[in-house]
Amino acid sequence: MMGASGLVMQAMKTQIIAALAATFAFLAPVAAIADNHADEHGEDAPRWSIAIHGGAGTLSPDNMTPERRAEYEAALQVALDAGAQVLKNGGTAMEAVQAAILPMEDSELFNAGRGAVFTWEGENELDASIMDGRDRSAGAVTGVTTVRNPILLADKVRTESPHVFLMGEGAEQFAVKQGFDVTPPEYFYTQRRMESLERMKAEALSSLDVDHKFGTVGAVALDSQGNLAAGTSTGGMTGKRWGRIGDAPVIGAGTYADNRSCAVSATGWGEYFIRVGVAQEICTRLRMTLYREAYASGGDLNDQHRAWMREQGVVQKAADAVMAEVKELGGDGGVILVTPDGDALFSFNTTGMYRGRATSDGVNEVAIFGGEEGSGTGNTPDH
Ligand code: GLY
Repeated sequence: MMGASGLVMQAMKTQIIAALAATFAFLAPVAAIADNHADEHGEDAPRWSIAIHGGAGTLSPDNMTPERRAEYEAALQVALDAGAQVLKNGGTAMEAVQAAILPMEDSELFNAGRGAVFTWEGENELDASIMDGRDRSAGAVTGVTTVRNPILLADKVRTESPHVFLMGEGAEQFAVKQGFDVTPPEYFYTQRRMESLERMKAEALSSLDVDHKFGTVGAVALDSQGNLAAGTSTGGMTGKRWGRIGDAPVIGAGTYADNRSCAVSATGWGEYFIRVGVAQEICTRLRMTLYREAYASGGDLNDQHRAWMREQGVVQKAADAVMAEVKELGGDGGVILVTPDGDALFSFNTTGMYRGRATSDGVNEVAIFGGEEGSGTGNTPDH
């Protein structure tokens, strides 16, 4: 049986081979993108960028001790640095997304992997998905109970099966076949999460009443070859039952990546994110806006249109507009995005979102509450 580090190594090898193959397959367009990118944005355009989240919700500095805040910020920084390091070393966006998500899955602080919430029956059912913007290949798993790092399994579904989405026992059998350790359920037991379930039952509360936030984790990245990737991992919502599945493992809702537009990972009230198709909706709006602009100017789509889109803040507006739709329907949460131009943005309709971003331009910041960004771009609402 292979441990998590062995799996990461194996995943990296697979990615390197895939990246080499992709380099030849996409050589001409990638070179064109890189040249145009340099022409249009000069030396200053970020060569790589990454954004991460560890959930969104009703977060207030008044309700968080300085120690707790420092703990979250440190955990976010570890995840951000892990992903940024991969990109700095020339690794792929797919590798960076997994490298950033792994420490959050291994932390008790986030509702994913080790820190997953409990179902109504007192189990931890994990969901994850991942998508490669190069070819829109995707992998996802739902309801797995014996896999320490579901994001790695989601990627194996993508690379080692003809499928996109596996569930429950079947997904676990596939994991064993792929050499994953069978993680005992006790590994996922945390006192804090059990108390939330017990309180929910005893006081007839909703999962939002007991958790105040969605601790789903995710990462999106642009690598120096111009490729995008997105991944998301979660335990779902406290007290979920009847096989309930949220947005995190649903490609198009919680996760989407397309080199032509953007990469998105979501956190929030999954039912609403599924109904809006949040992640794909944002990407589609960007792509259609670009085509419309090109059509209006009577030419083929080129980097001038991308520059126009950037100047107009179209990416932030599209993300905010889609999140406003989620809110209109009654849902809440947030998204992280990166674009082929290296912008790393956030949008959320909650008071806070655990988040961070880093770029080759030297941006490196983590934040929790609204309006905390210091880098001056893509600032978040200060509720
Ligand atoms: N966003 C996670 C869920 O709804 O399950």
